[in-house]
Amino acid sequence: MSKALKEARPFAETMVAWQKLHGRHHLPWQNTQDPYRVWLSEIMLQQTQVSTVLAYYEKFLQHFPTVADLAAAPQDKVMGLWSGLGYYSRARNLHQCAKDVVSRFGGKFPSTAAELITLPGIGRSTAAAVASFCFSERVAIMDGNVKRVLTRVWAFDADLSVSQNEKALWQMAEKALPTRQLKTAMPRYSQALMDLGATICLPRKPNCQACPVKPECQALAQGEPEKFPVKTRKVKRSSEVLWLLLAQNSKGEVWLEKRPSAGIWASLYSLPIFESEAALRAVFEFPIKPDQVQGKNAQTPIDLEVSVLPAFKHVLTHKDLHCHVVKVKLKQKPKTPQAGAWWSENNWKELGLPTPIRHLLSNSL
Ligand code: ADE
Repeated sequence: MSKALKEARPFAETMVAWQKLHGRHHLPWQNTQDPYRVWLSEIMLQQTQVSTVLAYYEKFLQHFPTVADLAAAPQDKVMGLWSGLGYYSRARNLHQCAKDVVSRFGGKFPSTAAELITLPGIGRSTAAAVASFCFSERVAIMDGNVKRVLTRVWAFDADLSVSQNEKALWQMAEKALPTRQLKTAMPRYSQALMDLGATICLPRKPNCQACPVKPECQALAQGEPEKFPVKTRKVKRSSEVLWLLLAQNSKGEVWLEKRPSAGIWASLYSLPIFESEAALRAVFEFPIKPDQVQGKNAQTPIDLEVSVLPAFKHVLTHKDLHCHVVKVKLKQKPKTPQAGAWWSENNWKELGLPTPIRHLLSNSL
């Protein structure tokens, strides 16, 4: 057949062949079809890069070898092991998902994307990743890396912040799935998309010379692959001021409380948080009535060692937290609105703490 008449190889087949030769093969969640291990890796990899996930992944599997072990663990242990990975709603959903797999599916992960998506923390792309990796289901994944690859190959320039456009891209992704030898092709194709997005089709300075689908990439043909994906609507950022109470007792223990199950740092341990300096100081500086001034039991701030530590900014996905810290040595428990307790250094180190609070404790006690 002359070159001109030769049919182009389907996109999926090119990707599968490339993955076999040039993709990643030795990540610890590869070479297994155990949905527990694959699911755990996919949740950890949702907002965290591979190099950070590796140690956490091993640690979780050591503590919780099966989904039943994870389901049976106390929440504080799960949050403590997750501490440092960020995006803690993932850890809360992870735990709830394990419990649901046990209670609804007898401890065995369901094998279809349609059932997986009914579990907490498993969205359409994660369901498809688990179903394609473990059960070779013919379903499309679409995380941030994959969106970049596909919008570039097809020069898909519709705004992905419009849900109709995102739906259209999902449909195109479904049409492009492998059609043959699905048992081996599906896991390899999903991995190929992830690998190409992570190693070659980079957000800036993509390495187009090394790309297996360079000849058919329409974004490259147009000359500006970095223009894709198109996403105009940015999430509005907000900011919040927090006043943190760093209270220590005479033994050097620190007062920590468990955050409520919703809101900032939900279900983690934290220093008590106040909206204002006045609200914070009210828990240890009691208003002094004139007739108490001379009294024996009058509690005055005079015997307190109080210092205001340098303020810092902590950046969350949609919010900047401007944190002020008041450090105080206390004889009694602070009268904070939430329940709390004194924690020694040996014990607080094991807790699920937000990263800025852990740093603060490590550097300021
Ligand atoms: N990111 C999301 N899933 C991944 C996987 N299976 N391998 C590498 N990076 C990933």
